Amino acid sequence: MTILIKGGTVVSATGADPAEVLFDGEKIIALLQPGSELALSAEKGAEVVDATGRLVVPGGVDVHVHMGLPLLGTRASDDFESGTIAAAWGGTTTIVDFAAQERGQSLRDGLDTRLGEAEGECAIDYGFHMTLADVNKDSLAEMDHIVDEGVSSFKLFMAYPGTVYSDDAQILRAMQQAAGNGALMLMHAENGIAIDVLAEQAVERGETAPVNHGYVRRAELEAEAAFRAIQLAKVGAAPLYIVHLSAKQALEQVSRARREGANVFAETCPQYLYFSLEDHLAKAGFDGAGYVCSTPVRSKHEHHQDELWTGLRTNDLAVVATDHCPFCMKDQKELGRNDFRAIPNGIGGVEHRMDMIFQGVVSGQISLPRWVELCSTTPARMMGMYPKKGTLQPGADADIVIYNPKKRWTISVDNHHMNMDYSAYEGIDVTGRVETVYSRGRRILHDECFEGRKGHGQFIRRSLSQYLI
Ligand code: URP
Ligand code: ZN
Ligand code: ZN
Repeated sequence: MTILIKGGTVVSATGADPAEVLFDGEKIIALLQPGSELALSAEKGAEVVDATGRLVVPGGVDVHVHMGLPLLGTRASDDFESGTIAAAWGGTTTIVDFAAQERGQSLRDGLDTRLGEAEGECAIDYGFHMTLADVNKDSLAEMDHIVDEGVSSFKLFMAYPGTVYSDDAQILRAMQQAAGNGALMLMHAENGIAIDVLAEQAVERGETAPVNHGYVRRAELEAEAAFRAIQLAKVGAAPLYIVHLSAKQALEQVSRARREGANVFAETCPQYLYFSLEDHLAKAGFDGAGYVCSTPVRSKHEHHQDELWTGLRTNDLAVVATDHCPFCMKDQKELGRNDFRAIPNGIGGVEHRMDMIFQGVVSGQISLPRWVELCSTTPARMMGMYPKKGTLQPGADADIVIYNPKKRWTISVDNHHMNMDYSAYEGIDVTGRVETVYSRGRRILHDECFEGRKGHGQFIRRSLSQYLI
């Protein structure tokens, strides 16, 4: 079926103009000038969708999510079905999750397990990064084959000693391998060895409440790890993408490296732009557990949030992803009631990214095109999915969001679609709301009604990052 979306303002990473979007089946055919001969003739053979007063944007691309992630004896509470449906509600039409290599396991087995879990379950398209927990001769050699399978990025951890942690030698070797095969190296940049010392000391002093998670994961330790990761990436000659950056000191490291011409990129997440240690992680009782994530939310007195917004404007922060990793309070966050180290770390937010970053447009912190660039176009390019994803142009997938920029509403656990028994965003008033979502040409959400189905989402074999020099 041919569909023409007319009357709206089409927003891309480079501008916002009145235009009509014509698509047929899964693909966009044309962007047409309103009132032009082509537009008038296209209208005759198409179903017309009226987007008057609305923004028409490429579907959101969230390149950092963890559906059903096993962590600290439990699993993230959204599985591929519930998590991708929640993503669609929020205007996201593509996710990139993680396949995990367990210690002693081959990358191939880790990838097959995750492909099997996702198969037939996703409502939107999905890809995978691969986490490396065991960098050795075999897994290094295997990285090249995994890239050929369409998994063109690997995540390493400078945190979590004893589980997925990699030491500097392993990091350097993985970087060198990536330099050869073109993969993008993702880094969880926190000095986990030092953090574990501080955490142990805090618990010995009886400081067991959730807020201590933020105190021990100090900004200096994020900055130190970011600096070290950058040096190792330079020496290894691999491109580096620092995930879930929250500390302004870590951002300084990224900014400096970029100024010096290094192939270094960074992502932040809505939680770091809106939540603080004092107002959220230190909430009374055990409520702060709902804000335990790593890297942690930072002190409002140190103005990290302002610096992150500046980074989003200057492109030192190139991507906003969610690091969606939800856990319910009941039975999950509760596991750490007596010891913050046992609280499963993660916040659910896959549904709210487009809206929360749109608030930056509403408040004048970023422009409308920058919103699309941060949430859709750059993530697609960074992760080798452009121009299939992240853009409305002929030949691209018809992943299209019709967005009402004036609609005011309040986020709540009562109206979200993530499988969580609380909302970290509870009570936040937002302006702007997704009205209609198309995924590869199929309408999957319209007028507050989900019309998609699990199994519609397809695995994306990603190319190399389009940011490599
Ligand atoms: O706290 C977080 N971020 N949980 C998900 C795992 C990770 O490190 O990204
Ligand atoms: Zn991480
Ligand atoms: Zn993560």
